[in-house]
Amino acid sequence: MQKEQHFVHGFSKKTRDEKLNYVVDNHLSSDEALTLLKSFHHTDAKIQNLLEEFSENTITNFPLPYNICPNVLINGKSYMVPMVVEESSVVAAASNSSKFWFTRGGFKTEIIGTEKIGQVHFLWKDDKQLLLNRFDELKELLRKECFEITENMIKRGGGILDIQLKDFSHEEPGLMQLYTTFETIESMGANFINSCLEQFASTFKKWHAAQKEFKSDGLEIIMCILSNLTPNCRVKCYVETSIDQLDNIIDGVSGAEFARRFRLGVRVAEIDPHRATTHNKGIMNGVDSVVLATGNDFRAVEACAHTYAAHSGKYTSLSHVSIDNDVFRFEMEIPFAVGVVGGLTSLHPLVKLSLELLEHPSAKELMSIAAAIGLANNFSAVKNLVTVGIQQGHMKMHLLNIIKQLNIPDVHRNDIVEHFKDKVVSVSAVRNLAEKWNLIEIEKIK
Ligand code: MEV
Repeated sequence: MQKEQHFVHGFSKKTRDEKLNYVVDNHLSSDEALTLLKSFHHTDAKIQNLLEEFSENTITNFPLPYNICPNVLINGKSYMVPMVVEESSVVAAASNSSKFWFTRGGFKTEIIGTEKIGQVHFLWKDDKQLLLNRFDELKELLRKECFEITENMIKRGGGILDIQLKDFSHEEPGLMQLYTTFETIESMGANFINSCLEQFASTFKKWHAAQKEFKSDGLEIIMCILSNLTPNCRVKCYVETSIDQLDNIIDGVSGAEFARRFRLGVRVAEIDPHRATTHNKGIMNGVDSVVLATGNDFRAVEACAHTYAAHSGKYTSLSHVSIDNDVFRFEMEIPFAVGVVGGLTSLHPLVKLSLELLEHPSAKELMSIAAAIGLANNFSAVKNLVTVGIQQGHMKMHLLNIIKQLNIPDVHRNDIVEHFKDKVVSVSAVRNLAEKWNLIEIEKIK
């Protein structure tokens, strides 16, 4: 029989503790759950309240590791980069790669652009030419009536760059858009852009209603929203070295052989979307962790990067390799929008600290840092994949996690790591060894 579904009324109106008790009483099995959830409340009530203001229906916090990748040399400047990520080996991979490239010129970046995009989507149920004829006049009015919102941004060197009319009526009758480009300087710009677009919509409606030559019901606004696809807010990042500098990057492997295999590894990702997805995921391991640590929107960054990866019409690798005149170059271009002011940047204490650690970067500098960490992760992953295989590096971290998970005392860690040096790691293999060596009580590990 199907379980009767229960609808909770007014959950959001309850206090934090009422919500917590409700969830535990009705959906969790024990008092231990309540204790566990409460144990993650911050001891400083001010910080706890702050965290609860970020979202709706918070009942506790969900901590993630805050990690450091040292020695990241970008455009000649060395950074200690904060990375928030839970996946074992991501930080180790970025750190190894950064260390390797530190003595080979480091990461170089170039900001290709910082243009953001917003759209007012509407139906035009009138003669299109009438709108085209008057579009310059409308554009001027849109800018003018938006000035209250854009004034400060203009003072800082940003604002509305351009407003174009785009026509999609061949795909949906009457569908058009005000395609608008923005410069938002140090902010990611989401609130600014959306406020401008909503002002555009109201100006557009008012202007339309005042024109005798237009049908009174000829304009229907569908929605106003920024686009997370910002191909012209893009950073190029690369590392480059002579092939002989790659000698013995893996013991006994020549630089030329390594470069040949590395290029092949990247070629597979250029050719096959299945591999490209995983390859790009490896890049985003690094990018997202910096984006998170600096209080930016990793969902937006992900969405943008993956759509861009398909901009040729086929989903492909974001990074590429060239080997010319014995010079190995590993490069990627990646678009995403991040900010160093607004949003969480001045609210979340750890975000503030991350920005301090990075010596208060500009938004462009932050793009470079996130891209460099992305390329660092990608380099490590492909390097391992085409040489020793991914499991060797991953498995050491995995093994340490298993040891913890099985409550094996720390004193036995090194012996176990040594034992598994040339063996396949699995939970059951570690459990069997722990039983054989009498390292833990059997009950505990079942
Ligand atoms: C794992 O998080 C990321 C990798 O799969 C990336 C890759 O395959 O290139 C190792």
